[in-house]
Amino acid sequence: MKDDMQGKVVMVTGATSGIGRVTALELARLGATVVLVGRSQARAETTAQEIRRATGNPVDVLLADLSSLTQVCRLADDFKRRYDRLDVLVNNAGAYFTTRQESAEGYEMTLALNHLSPFLLTHRLLDVLQASAPARIVAVSSDAHRQVRIDFGDLQGRKGYRGFRAYSRSKLMNVLFTYELARRLTGTGVTANALHPGFVASNFGRNNGDLAGVGMAVISRLFAISPEKGARTAIYLASSPEVEGVSGRYFVKNRAVRSSAASYDQAAARTLWEASEALVGLREPVLVGD
Ligand SMILES: NC(=O)c1ccc[n+]([C@@H]2O[C@H](COP(=O)([O-])OP(=O)(O)OC[C@H]3O[C@@H](n4cnc5c(N)ncnc54)[C@H](OP(=O)(O)O)[C@@H]3O)[C@@H](O)[C@H]2O)c1
Repeated sequence: MKDDMQGKVVMVTGATSGIGRVTALELARLGATVVLVGRSQARAETTAQEIRRATGNPVDVLLADLSSLTQVCRLADDFKRRYDRLDVLVNNAGAYFTTRQESAEGYEMTLALNHLSPFLLTHRLLDVLQASAPARIVAVSSDAHRQVRIDFGDLQGRKGYRGFRAYSRSKLMNVLFTYELARRLTGTGVTANALHPGFVASNFGRNNGDLAGVGMAVISRLFAISPEKGARTAIYLASSPEVEGVSGRYFVKNRAVRSSAASYDQAAARTLWEASEALVGLREPVLVGD
């Protein structure tokens, strides 16, 4: 079966580089109208132009610094002003921060960008996704999630921040959120799946200053796969008829595999959902973590 995306509208976050850029390009090649989300107008326009030239397909650009919840809400509003359907949402943007930083609204940056942002964006776009069903939500997580559990007493990493632990926890949050979302969306025709892309040579980790950036570049050159290979599972989950109706699964190399034991903890998934709702302002504050 051919993965035909003609007439479908797809939003890809973090589409200006690495896995997101290739995902956007290949989905456009399959015929989709791609809405590319970036934080830099110059990088986003350049990427959109490249994809338009390579595919002849319409590519739209929406701008948002996704670490800001205000900008996430504005992004969803901007999208809905221009489109009345959304067939696939690829929550791909993410980063790793070696030192503790805070977002515009004062949230620890890894939590804000890697978890609260896709959590809120997905909520804000759920109505249009449901109206477009069958529709798909794809989360670019990581096998890094396997190393950790969530510390609900310290969601903001105030008690001794460690960059890779914070990153790994945010990727576990992606899986917990995806599974809980899939449970809540049962029967709606909207599916939610998460994936590990592999170790990919991209700009990942380059935001951490010269030394960390150079280290990452060297390790990448030695061991990492190309963004083209790294994007394959995201493209598969966004477009393949083989996964029509499949939901609440974790994929590596186009195959559903088991994620960590901690990721199947339904109580933790519900607690994370409620804590996230409180943090992004979708409900009254609850007494978990901070
Ligand atoms: N690379 C790997 O080995 C690997 C492994 C497992 C999982 N992943 C996951 O794959 C996803 C994509 O990473 P990548 O490897 O493709 O890295 P990348 O090349 O650094 O791409 C990250 C994308 O996210 C965007 N982004 C970062 N911060 C943002 C912000 N505040 N607001 C809006 N956009 C922002 C970047 O935009 P700019 O161009 O403006 O920086 C870029 O488009 C991430 O979620 C990462 O956790 C990567």
